[in-house]
Amino acid sequence: MNNPIKVALCGLGTVGSAVFRLINDKSELFKRRFGAEIKIVAVSARDKCKERDLCLNDVAWFDDAIEMAEVSDANVVVELVGGSEGVALEVCQTALSTGKDIVTANKALLAVHGFDLAKLADEGSRSIGYEAAVAGGIPVIKALREGLVCNEVQRLYGILNGTSNFILTEMRNKGLDFETVLKDAQMLGYAEADPEFDINGVDAGHKLALLTALAFETKPDFSSVSVEGISNISELDIRFADELGYRIKLLGIARRGPEGTQQSVRPCMIPKELPMANVDGVFNAIAFQGDDTGPVLLEGRGAGAGPTASAVIADLSDLARGLRLPTFGVPIKKLKLGNPALEDTAVGRFYVRLMVLDRPGVFAEVAAILREQDVSMEAILQRTRAPGAPVPVVMTTHEVNQLAIKKAIDQFSSLDTVLEEPRIIKIENLGL
Ligand code: NAP
Ligand code: HSE
Repeated sequence: MNNPIKVALCGLGTVGSAVFRLINDKSELFKRRFGAEIKIVAVSARDKCKERDLCLNDVAWFDDAIEMAEVSDANVVVELVGGSEGVALEVCQTALSTGKDIVTANKALLAVHGFDLAKLADEGSRSIGYEAAVAGGIPVIKALREGLVCNEVQRLYGILNGTSNFILTEMRNKGLDFETVLKDAQMLGYAEADPEFDINGVDAGHKLALLTALAFETKPDFSSVSVEGISNISELDIRFADELGYRIKLLGIARRGPEGTQQSVRPCMIPKELPMANVDGVFNAIAFQGDDTGPVLLEGRGAGAGPTASAVIADLSDLARGLRLPTFGVPIKKLKLGNPALEDTAVGRFYVRLMVLDRPGVFAEVAAILREQDVSMEAILQRTRAPGAPVPVVMTTHEVNQLAIKKAIDQFSSLDTVLEEPRIIKIENLGL
């Protein structure tokens, strides 16, 4: 049996408490499988008096998490506080600078400071485990860093935020409104401390930045991810998508091409029959196109206490087995700049919804703009009749230049008969 892995656990919230319980409840299984005991020696959270239903008698309590990272006799600090700055950052910097490994579920931290932290880790021959930071219980970091190591990945995409996928699914299946479903996601422990990050695509953007770095050997760079969330998606769009044969999913997509790496998070319509379209609820999925493996699709729960704690333990098992890999797959000096591509000007197909006054001549105005911008329509729908009142008009386009469709949208907005900001969603045809 190897020496025990001594853990200082920072944060005892949804994920931290689940990690604490797993380490206590499954100690025999872990000893058997890892060849070493995993032992929590110190913990820190904001409020010592909070009722947690955890037995903390045998562990040292620290009010100051940074002090714990420095002075406790742990050999690994597990950071489960969250946030890209402040205590989470200082805990990780302190742990690495004092010779400890770190394990974290904090994608916000790594998407912004991942390069500097990886540099610290490299210099001290320590490691950063972050399996829990991307897609909860899906072992996607291990898949890219180990299982798919032979492959040059040209493109990856996926559903990377459990909360927004849960919201879109419940809106579609139960006809529930956005706010009600968001509250459920918060109660179930899926949402971030600031749920805005889930809804506005930032959380998925953080995760995409990490996957891109690993897959393409580039510095993680959240600032070059173009991000749009789901707050503009209405039940009406979900219903029209269904009628047209699509599902709306918040997708993170990274492509590498001659002009650089393109990373985007945005709501997309994908054909209903694709496996990715049927990944529902809190589930996440990631698809890769490997040059040797061909397509690979991974699916599992993307948030919640159990799946995330399971991923934290996977990182601890690596340490118990003496496995320390470079944070982003290659030594830090070999990471390239992502060379972010400029605005996405590629051609694509689009869904456009206008709320227009139901009166003669409106279609002619819309058609004139489409002709002027050389946008070719595939289908147009107006289901309801309400003379003189607003009705939805829905169009899908053939392949069209993105700049042209954006110009057409601007022109639609300026028509007197268009009563709301037009809604536009890209129709993606990504394969898996
Ligand atoms: P959470 O429930 O809000 O827990 C945060 C914990 O951090 C709490 O125990 C809190 O203490 C503690 N804390 C806050 N400020 C602190 C400070 N200054 N010093 C020490 N402890 C402090 O958050 P969570 O959902 O467990 O998320 C933790 C991390 O996991 C985040 O990075 C999140 O993005 C990531 N993550 C979460 C999920 C999920 O499904 N929830 C999934 C994947 C990744 P008190 O308990 O005393 O308030
Ligand atoms: N808030 C995140 C989500 C947690 O909903 O996916 C998992 O990272």
